[in-house]
Amino acid sequence: MAKGAIAAREPMMVPVVAGKTYWWCACGLSKKQPFCDGSHTKTDMVPVEYQAEKSKDCYFCVCKQTGQEPLCDGTHNRL
Ligand code: FES
Repeated sequence: MAKGAIAAREPMMVPVVAGKTYWWCACGLSKKQPFCDGSHTKTDMVPVEYQAEKSKDCYFCVCKQTGQEPLCDGTHNRL
């Protein structure tokens, strides 16, 4: 599957809330990283849904090259 544009070379920590749904920007074009702002309509990519099962700090991928969408897997260290 195609990867999005590199929006930054480090993840972004977001305190997620149990039961809440988040839409991760996969295309890399959103101005509201790490989440979707609708900019993907210029591409053939779509955002990825993330459902928080419990409240915790989550590190979302912003380089968009992760193999564990939408979370950081350390790939940004090899870019
Ligand atoms: Fe990037 Fe929606 S703006 S997936």
